[in-house]
Amino acid sequence: MKNTFTLKAVLYVVGGLLLPFLPQAQQSISVTSPNHFVALTTTLATNGNVQYRVSYKNNTFIEPSSLGFSLSRPKLTLSQFRIISVDSSTTDETWQPVWGEVNRIRNHYKALSLLLKDKSGVLVKVHFRVFNEGIGFRYEFPKQENLTHFVVADELTQFNLAGDYKAFWIPGDYDTNEYLYNTTKLSEVNAVAAAAKETDIALKSVIGPNAIQTPLMLKTPQGLYINLHEAALVNYPVMHLMLEKKTFTLTSHLVPDAVGNKAYLQTPFQTPWRTINVSDKATDILASKLILNLNEPSKITDVSWIKPQKFIGMWWEMHVGKATWEKAGGKHGANTANVKTYIDFAAKHGFDGVLVEGWNEGWEDWFGNWKENVFDFITPYPDYNLEELTAYARQKGVRIIMHHETSGSATNYERWMDKAYKYMNDHQINTVKTGYVGKIIPRGEHHDGQWMVNHYQRVAEKAAEYKIMVEAHEPAHPTGLHRTYPNWLANEAARGNEFNNAPKLGLVPEHETILPFTRLMGGPMDYTPGFFHFQLNQYDATRTTRVKTTLAKQLALYVTMYSPLQMAGDFPENFNKHLDAFQFIKDVPVDWDDTQILEAEPGDYITIARREKGKPNWFLGAISDENSRTTALPLNFLEEGATYQATIYRDAENADWQTNPAAYSIEKMTVTNKTTLNLRLAKGGGCAVSFRKM
Ligand code: NOJ
Ligand code: CA
Repeated sequence: MKNTFTLKAVLYVVGGLLLPFLPQAQQSISVTSPNHFVALTTTLATNGNVQYRVSYKNNTFIEPSSLGFSLSRPKLTLSQFRIISVDSSTTDETWQPVWGEVNRIRNHYKALSLLLKDKSGVLVKVHFRVFNEGIGFRYEFPKQENLTHFVVADELTQFNLAGDYKAFWIPGDYDTNEYLYNTTKLSEVNAVAAAAKETDIALKSVIGPNAIQTPLMLKTPQGLYINLHEAALVNYPVMHLMLEKKTFTLTSHLVPDAVGNKAYLQTPFQTPWRTINVSDKATDILASKLILNLNEPSKITDVSWIKPQKFIGMWWEMHVGKATWEKAGGKHGANTANVKTYIDFAAKHGFDGVLVEGWNEGWEDWFGNWKENVFDFITPYPDYNLEELTAYARQKGVRIIMHHETSGSATNYERWMDKAYKYMNDHQINTVKTGYVGKIIPRGEHHDGQWMVNHYQRVAEKAAEYKIMVEAHEPAHPTGLHRTYPNWLANEAARGNEFNNAPKLGLVPEHETILPFTRLMGGPMDYTPGFFHFQLNQYDATRTTRVKTTLAKQLALYVTMYSPLQMAGDFPENFNKHLDAFQFIKDVPVDWDDTQILEAEPGDYITIARREKGKPNWFLGAISDENSRTTALPLNFLEEGATYQATIYRDAENADWQTNPAAYSIEKMTVTNKTTLNLRLAKGGGCAVSFRKM
């Protein structure tokens, strides 16, 4: 359905007036979500400012907030507009993702588009979509006579929050999103102080005391949950947020390039969507598909080669000092014999892949020197026989996963990409983990700038040409582009489980109860759960680091941290000590038909149940923060009338992340959808359950 209003109609909608255009008049247009909970009102103020306001169940949580741009070429501020025309429409469609948390996604919204003319004569459109679960809006610069090439100095989008809300935030930073989350009121944000404590992060480019990142999770004192982020970040820098603490106004802060500009654009152009999720239930935030719905459908037509997968890796042993990436020094992990033991373990336990890091020449001098040509991505170390290993893996039904650490040198990677992907094709390797540790080359660019955003996309596109699946470590925050490029399976882009080994702050037990409300809003994460050994001095007695979790919680993370690419992080030797618990990691799927968010509170707990793709089996994960927790879960998501064998992997009575992390018990019971499951999670604990239909 599509309606086009003339300006007259706008005035009619606003106040029943059929008057010619009056520049002084305040013009308002309101659109409500299909269920009427979310209401968007746009207003053209007397000074020509276009503002929007958002309410949920009649409570305004975003007060009038300005829209606009400042350009550096041509030098213009676009903030004094006239409304030329207004369009509205309703969309209700359903689509099927290639892989995901659910097999069908409904895209139901009301749209409003304003065609605006700035006093400079520049035309800008603003497109709003109002969903039951929030809104998205983006700017469009249509093709027009007086504007072709232009350079953005700043985007002037505001989110003028109605109060001093509780925020789950990390410092705004041009190069990293690997911070621990801070939970404070907005008025208490101090990003510089928070970043100063983070000595484990190798490269920081902190923006200032009032800059924070999206996805930003907020909660009002009345119990409204709000999430701010962006969707479809294409050819544009990441949006960080600058907080004005007196008014609780957040203003977009785009990441600059090497000479201080934000974006080089040409009409016609559409910016990423700015997204606002809202609900009085925290579970709705996690269930929302708003960001995916705002992304374009898959650009890859033949998706038959794209497969969710589970893998192990020649990886954690380097992190804990059992082996090294580099060949020099005599502890080289990625040698043929050692990798064979990983392939054997993967084959024995049904894993799809084995990630091998440190396989290629260059690790002796890979980090910290802003050096352009570190790796070539096609030259293995002499003790790593890739031909032999790929043949060995193939015969066992396992594939090696390629590792391309770029050390931040994207220019070098772009020069090698074709050869590197051909080399992978030649060895039938179809998945690559990329990495961007360190300062970016082109020098002066940032991980989150327009140049790098385009680079990550080029990697996904180029990899697709070679039928290769990708996951990136240290990229910009994801914004749902995995819908458009379903071969882009996952990303790190946050503080992963590997930070448990970081000497200073490491991780905290509440971390995984916040990530789904923040980082995961934009897409799946390669979090690398599955650590079974908790004191990380196993191979290096000087280490004091430890994993702050119980073993049962590590299992539950395979359900609570959605990803189509899941690693079992620890190494075989540690899994072998707990093969009964390891069974859950073997059984848990990585692709789902259905997902039900049963309970959630950011910073405290999450419980999720998911149904296996194409099968009647369900899996449940429940996690807690540093507190223990009891819960009674009605299993009403199970099929009516069916009987299931539940295998429950629980924290033992005396389990505690600090004093007794490895204590768990495994229990089998017969259940139906009338059963209530009583769970007790330890401090820093969790519970994982598989339900096999009998
Ligand atoms: C950082 C990545 O996050 C980690 O997983 C990887 O092992 C190292 N870089 C080396 O590339
Ligand atoms: Ca908490």
